[in-house]
Amino acid sequence: MLSESEIGAYREDFEALFGAGAAPALYFAPGRVNLIGEHTDYNGGLVLPLAMEQGTYMLARPREQPPARLRSTAAGGEAVVEFDPRAIEKSGDWSDYVRGVFAVLSRASQPPPPFEALVFGDLPREAGLSSSASLEVVSALAAAGLGYNLSREETARVAWRAENEFVGVPCGIMDQFAIALAEDGHALLLDCLTEKYRHIPYNLPDTALVIGHTGVGRSLAASAYRERRRECGEALALITRRVGAREHLAEVTAEELEAARDILPEHLFMRARHVVEEQRRVLEATECLRAGDPQKLGSLLNLSHASLRDLYRVSSPELDALQDISLRQPGVWGCRMTGAGFGGCVIALVDRDAVPAYLEAMPERYRPAVGREPFFIVLDRPAMGAMRIS
Ligand code: GLA
Repeated sequence: MLSESEIGAYREDFEALFGAGAAPALYFAPGRVNLIGEHTDYNGGLVLPLAMEQGTYMLARPREQPPARLRSTAAGGEAVVEFDPRAIEKSGDWSDYVRGVFAVLSRASQPPPPFEALVFGDLPREAGLSSSASLEVVSALAAAGLGYNLSREETARVAWRAENEFVGVPCGIMDQFAIALAEDGHALLLDCLTEKYRHIPYNLPDTALVIGHTGVGRSLAASAYRERRRECGEALALITRRVGAREHLAEVTAEELEAARDILPEHLFMRARHVVEEQRRVLEATECLRAGDPQKLGSLLNLSHASLRDLYRVSSPELDALQDISLRQPGVWGCRMTGAGFGGCVIALVDRDAVPAYLEAMPERYRPAVGREPFFIVLDRPAMGAMRIS
């Protein structure tokens, strides 16, 4: 979270940029990490993400006349972006995440009033921590402040549609739902098929989650993501020939998958096996949170990583090295890649007392092995979801 005084400085920037007048409203949407349930959301499965303290802030207020005017400090001193709220078009820059939200809302009801907004925050970009979903959700919150009537679920859905329909990235619903619906001290167990969810108390007070960034962005992520989605569709089509109609891969049981093994090419069997087994791991991990069992949770994280590496094939040498080195540090219960893969971050479940030594040892061991500079973010407990601050 940013401090009061940091936010105060942004309020001054806002006024310097857009002029004095009514005080703008302040909105916040966190980044997310996924504890477990990876590449299951678009397969109609379960996910168990939680919110970070870091996130995206937006100061926004209506203005008299078009255009809408936006500026983001996150990308470093960028110029003000303008667009006509009655005819929103794609620009190819960061503002598409904001434009997309208002374009979706315009289509569903009416165009937004002209507004001016300043975006800032403390969430690393391109890190697999959902900075784009965070910007979409904060924009949807600002839209609610400008007159749209949106529940928390609708906020998530609008943000998801902006990503899929306007930006053109075919992501699942996990990120936007996690960010919009998360609650302090809880993970979010979300069924991506029904969109039903439960807040699961995070009962691991003696541990912290350490998010470790590999120092590698997610350059391959987009193309590989589309390829995995396609492969899951192909696997499902073959499996249903053997076991009968199923809408999604996550509905297939381990026995059904085995029954269809002989008609599946090896790589499709591996993809499907990851999804089917990961689904079960999410349920087991939920029990671990409730029971406060870091040992079992740690082993589930390790199994998930192995499955993403060997069966789903979305890990990378850097993610594998960071996981492997993490597991050799004292007080680490488990570790796995989180998010889409091909770079980005791992999460390690670490005894709270062991965190300082972990943070000291990790860069020294990872840097020479991989030749990249990692960075780490400690999450003591799950943080709150998106909200209007003032
Ligand atoms: C990205 C997508 C999510 C989800 C994960 C993989 O973060 O945005 O919808 O599919 O990858 O679990």
